[in-house]
Amino acid sequence: MPDQPLLDVRDLSVRFRTRQGPVTAVDGLSFSVAPGEVLGVVGESGSGKSVSMLAVLRLLTHPDVMVSGHVLFRGRDLLALPDKEMRAVRGREIAMVFQDPMTALTPVYTVGWQIAEQIRAHEQVSRKEARTRAVRLLSDVGIPDAASRVHAYPHEFSGGMRQRAVIAMALSCGPALLIADEPTTALDVTVQAQILDLMRELNTRGSAMVLITHDMGVVSQIADRVLVMYGGRAAEEGPRRAVFHGPRHPYTWGLLDSVPRVGGPRLRRLPTIAGMPVSPGAVPEGCAFAPRCRLRHERCEERPALAGGTHRDACWLPPDDRQSLRLTTRTGIDTEAAS
Ligand SMILES: Nc1ncnc2c1ncn2[C@@H]1O[C@H](COP(=O)(O)OP(=O)(O)OP(=O)(O)O)[C@@H](O)[C@H]1O
Ligand code: SF4
Ligand SMILES: [Mg+2]
Repeated sequence: MPDQPLLDVRDLSVRFRTRQGPVTAVDGLSFSVAPGEVLGVVGESGSGKSVSMLAVLRLLTHPDVMVSGHVLFRGRDLLALPDKEMRAVRGREIAMVFQDPMTALTPVYTVGWQIAEQIRAHEQVSRKEARTRAVRLLSDVGIPDAASRVHAYPHEFSGGMRQRAVIAMALSCGPALLIADEPTTALDVTVQAQILDLMRELNTRGSAMVLITHDMGVVSQIADRVLVMYGGRAAEEGPRRAVFHGPRHPYTWGLLDSVPRVGGPRLRRLPTIAGMPVSPGAVPEGCAFAPRCRLRHERCEERPALAGGTHRDACWLPPDDRQSLRLTTRTGIDTEAAS
C-alpha cells in the first residue's frame, strides 16, 4: 500500500525518574512519516524533539527512563523488537545524524575505517569492497580527494567535512529513513547550506527524513510536512505549505513571527514568544502552552487533543476564528516595527 507510513509513532511517552521526582519529557506524541517524505520537527529548546527521536531509535537505555507507546516501522513495533533485531534496524534501515559529528566518530580510527566497519556490520562484504564503498561514499558527499582522505582521522577533517563523513556513514547502507537532529547547527552558514543541499539530494534518491531543527527557514526549504512540538507534545502537524501559510496554533504563530520575513517590516528587535518555555516537570495538565498564551480561556484547563484532517492542531480556539485572532495577537509585535 503506497499510503502506508514508513514510520508511525503512536502515543509515545518518555518519563525520567529524577531526584526531584518523575519528569515527563514526551507526552502522548503521535506522528508519521511516509516513504520518501521529509518531516521537519520544530520547537523551542526542551520541547522533547531529541528525546522523542532517541526513544524511536531505542537509544534511551538508562533504567531511570521509561518509554511507552508504539513505534511502528514498516509495520513492526520497534519498542517490542528483540535487541538484536533492533541493532539490525538501526544503521541499516534507519540511520541517524546528530548535531555534533564528533559524537558519531571515534577519534582513534580513520574515517574510512569507520565507514567501512559500518558497512561490514550490516552486510557480508570483504574489507576491500567496504573500503572501496567508503571512498565512493565520501566522494558522493562532496569530500574532495576521497581516495586519500579516507585514511585521515576525524581531527584532520574540518567541522563541515566531519558532518559530511557522518552523513556518508549514515548512508552507507542506503537507509529508508534518516533521522537528523540539528545536523547543521554546529556549522557555519555556508557549510550549513551545503549540508542541506546534500540532504535534499539524498531525499531525491529515496530516503525519508526526520529533520529536527530550530530553524524555521531550513524547514521551509526542505520539509514536506512539519511537526511543531511544545512541552513534549504535538502542538500542530501538517503539510509545510498549510503550516506556513495558515498556521493554526498560537505557539506556531509565535514561532513564525519570530522569523524575520524577507521584505517584511524592519523590526527594532526580533520578536520572541513572550514567557519562558515550559520545563518538563511543570507542564500544566491542560494546554501546555496556556501560561504563555494570550488567548487562553477557561476551556484551556482541559488538555486539547491533536485534531483535524491532514493538518492537525491541539487548541480549543474555534477553527474559523483563528485568522482574525492571529492578527489580534500580532498587534503587539507590529507596533515595534521601525518606521
Ligand atoms: N536524562 C534526563 N533526565 C531528566 N530529564 C531529561 C533527561 N534528558 C532530557 N531531559 C529533559 O527532557 C526535555 C526534553 O529534552 P530534549 O533534549 O528532547 O529537548 P529538545 O527539544 O531536543 O531541545 P534542544 O532544542 O535544546 O535540543 C528537556 O527539558 C530535558 O531537560
Ligand atoms: S488551547 Fe487555549 S491556551 Fe492552548 S493554545 Fe489554544 S487558546 Fe491558547
Ligand atoms: Mg535536541
